[in-house]
Amino acid sequence: MELGELTRDLETLRDDAVASVRAAPDVATLEAIELDVLGRKGRLTLVLRGIGALPAEDRPKVGAVANEVRGAIAAALADRGGALRGSELEARLAAEAVDVTTPGRPIRRGTLHPIVETVREIADIFGQFGFVTYEGPEVEDDLTNFQMLNIPPDHPARDLWDTLYVDVEGYLLRTHTSPGQIRVMQTERPPIRALLPGRCYRYEAIDASHASEFFQVEGLMVDEGTTMGDLKGLLDQFAKAMYGHDKRTRFRPGYYPFTEPSVAFDVECLVCGGSGCPACSKSGWMTILGAGMVHPVVLQYGGLDPERYQGFAFGMGVERIANLRHSVGDLRLYMENDLRFLGQFR
Ligand code: PHE
Repeated sequence: MELGELTRDLETLRDDAVASVRAAPDVATLEAIELDVLGRKGRLTLVLRGIGALPAEDRPKVGAVANEVRGAIAAALADRGGALRGSELEARLAAEAVDVTTPGRPIRRGTLHPIVETVREIADIFGQFGFVTYEGPEVEDDLTNFQMLNIPPDHPARDLWDTLYVDVEGYLLRTHTSPGQIRVMQTERPPIRALLPGRCYRYEAIDASHASEFFQVEGLMVDEGTTMGDLKGLLDQFAKAMYGHDKRTRFRPGYYPFTEPSVAFDVECLVCGGSGCPACSKSGWMTILGAGMVHPVVLQYGGLDPERYQGFAFGMGVERIANLRHSVGDLRLYMENDLRFLGQFR
């Protein structure tokens, strides 16, 4: 091998390499060319092997040419690489572009269930009179649901509550929130002002006004010298806050085993205003809750001395209160979870 030949080989290699670098369509091809030409086993290295066969004085000349060739190829690689990387980035940016001016997807706002909303409203009103909200268990024992409320096992008053029993002896699904009275009396000392909202269960033939699940709100006040006048004044204020300040109210005699005396609490018919219509069975009044003075036996079961303390209690059906507020005629609607119904209470 002589100097001229080696020099030509190097120049051919340079021209080939630079041409294919310039024609490379993408970065991957470029990297393959680099390896093929400049790599440890690349074509430039192969050509330079011939240097050993040259006379010593020619070797530096070939070295200078080789450096020039390597530099030219490296420059071409850098040049083309920069161009390709730039356009690849541009292509990616274009493909992955996000249009920040596209309008957002609206988030649908939920609404409170009308029963929850009504419970909160009731708790709000009684909260202004100092009543604090408590909760009792839905699976209750017979003792607390009935016996401590002055309803022994063979008492005919049990017929008032069509009970759903669970398959554990002595336990049932609470038929009312009144057992909460016992639980609060057993844990709190007077003065007690407790509100007990919650779900109750009864074995019922289901129709527009009866369901096997429903909500009640229980109220209990116990202190020294609590009277029926306090009860009447409180309930009157409640009805006025709930239904309007012009509304008249009244007590009628009622019966519950755990209160004595017991009353039904009526508000002037919200449909006809008292003149009599089908909604109030022509009476002019609507019954919204049951109430009375806590029976001394119940106070005793609650651990309180009936000689010292008196109390009153009341219990209302939340569906009924909600029906009257929103003119809903069928309480099954509250349980169907139909958004067309529920979405109307905003
Ligand atoms: N617990 C009674 C019922 O379910 C309502 C009530 C509560 C009556 C408190 C008087 C006192 O019908």
